[in-house]
Amino acid sequence: GSTLQAAASESGRYFGTAIAAFKLNDSTYSSIANREFNMITAENEMKMDATEPSQNNFSYSSGDQILNWARSNGKRVRGHALAWHSQQPGWMQNMSGTQLRNAMLNHVTQVATHYKGKIYAWDVVNEAYADSGGGRRDSNLQRTGDDWIEAAFRAARAADPGAKLCYNDYNTDNWTWAKTQGVYNMVKDFKARGVPIDCVGFQSHFNSGSPYPSNYRTTLQNFAALGVEVQITELDIEGSGQQQAQTYANVVADCLAVKACTGITVWGVRDSDSWRSSGTPLLFDGSGNKKAAYTSTLDALNRG
Ligand code: G3I
Repeated sequence: GSTLQAAASESGRYFGTAIAAFKLNDSTYSSIANREFNMITAENEMKMDATEPSQNNFSYSSGDQILNWARSNGKRVRGHALAWHSQQPGWMQNMSGTQLRNAMLNHVTQVATHYKGKIYAWDVVNEAYADSGGGRRDSNLQRTGDDWIEAAFRAARAADPGAKLCYNDYNTDNWTWAKTQGVYNMVKDFKARGVPIDCVGFQSHFNSGSPYPSNYRTTLQNFAALGVEVQITELDIEGSGQQQAQTYANVVADCLAVKACTGITVWGVRDSDSWRSSGTPLLFDGSGNKKAAYTSTLDALNRG
């Protein structure tokens, strides 16, 4: 294939990007996005604060804009994210207990129902594990009880039975890290007890503090062996030149080596679109030119 999406399709996989609604009228941006990618994640527009700015008052215009752009261009959509400790609307941030639990479940139900039948996979719960120690992250949602995650998954399944339901997190790439083990044990437990979970998202924001680990493929394989799909959901890699290009190629090769790794999404189009205000972590430079990392990624997909 001569584009990322075409090359990924040859092995039945997708290649996606995060999209910001306000950039869609930038023709450099939207033409690269349309040419190269066939899976779309809303970078911010489907989050809790965006979709329920005041309680029970849902706002879907920006999320719908991205969904409609994607669908009208023949692309699928990953939903991001139904329940998260961060990016909560103000009214939710100070809630607790049963009131918060019910508000969260109502949010999951309403948003998943709005997008019913149109989402390939939802990040149902995002980033619920602590950065160290292997346990849950403290948050208002966690303080409603350990079962908040499975409750969110059950509500999402009931609202949109056709969407794959994912748990999504970062720093879960290195198999030896406690956080990875914590998430692995949760997924194992969910599968054993029949909690509806279909996929695990590995954000894969690689930088000096959390570099691409040599055991990444092992991690993907071990999760896949639990009977879930694995997806690389927010890939970006700090660095430049051949070193960055090689790491992108390694990530692609690892996904292609794991049958249940169904696709890769990079977290933005050009370096200038990245959430990292400094750095050059993506596949296109600020002018929209293909970087060495683009070529190595395309070549690795074509080797698949
Ligand atoms: O929408 C407001 C706008 O009205 C205001 O004028 C502007 C001024 O700063 O802020 C805008 O909101 C910003 C939003 O991005 C849209 O640009 C927020 O301040 C900013 O915090 C937000 O950052 C996003 C971040 O998630 C929030 O947590 C990044 O774009 C987005 O790339 C990032 O994505 C996350 C994933 O969802 C989860 N995994 C990690 C990843 C990177 O942090």
